[in-house]
Amino acid sequence: MMRWRTPARLITSARRLLSSHNAHESNLVYLEEVVSVQEEARLCAYLDEGWLKRRRYEKGHWDSVISKYKEAELVGDLPGDVASIVTRLMGELVLPRYDHKPTAAEMMAPHVVDLDADGFISPHVDNVRHSGAVLAGLSLLSTRTLRLHKDGAPEEGLIEQVLRPRSLYMLKGPLRYDFAHSILAGTHRRLSVIFRDAHAPIH
Ligand code: OGA
Ligand code: MN
Repeated sequence: MMRWRTPARLITSARRLLSSHNAHESNLVYLEEVVSVQEEARLCAYLDEGWLKRRRYEKGHWDSVISKYKEAELVGDLPGDVASIVTRLMGELVLPRYDHKPTAAEMMAPHVVDLDADGFISPHVDNVRHSGAVLAGLSLLSTRTLRLHKDGAPEEGLIEQVLRPRSLYMLKGPLRYDFAHSILAGTHRRLSVIFRDAHAPIH
């Protein structure tokens, strides 16, 4: 069902968006152009050659949290140029941003999510068995919106961040486990490379 919002309600929600964003300013970091257009093309070509091109988009798993997706892990010996992009992002941008000083050795294999044009990830909180305190996502190929809100309360603490291709977002603190996150449907294919550590969650 569609419901019209009155202007007053729109203003309140815009205000709420602004103030909750400020409250979590340091817990959501967003950086643009962290890889060049050439590096983006190289990463995508490698991922396509390696796995993605040969696979079909699947309907959904994780209790239908994700729809029209493919996924892979960046494990084993990566070609030198791909490995150096990953190492640079982790060493220069991701790891220094976390207070508990995670080391590269504590990071899990980067997780690749390939969303079809109309694929999306519904609101969820990451499973603590497969993730720790660090969450960083490199977005490639197309623009999507990341939406965060209090877990179980879609109207509370709403934060939206537009994720452009070649950008990196990082979540920490309460945004990691007290908030649910989702990636809205778009109009073009989108790839993400997700970096996580294997620490116990820190609140
Ligand atoms: C996930 C996830 C977000 C993204 O894989 O759990 O939330 O940016 N991914 O792809
Ligand atoms: Mn997630």
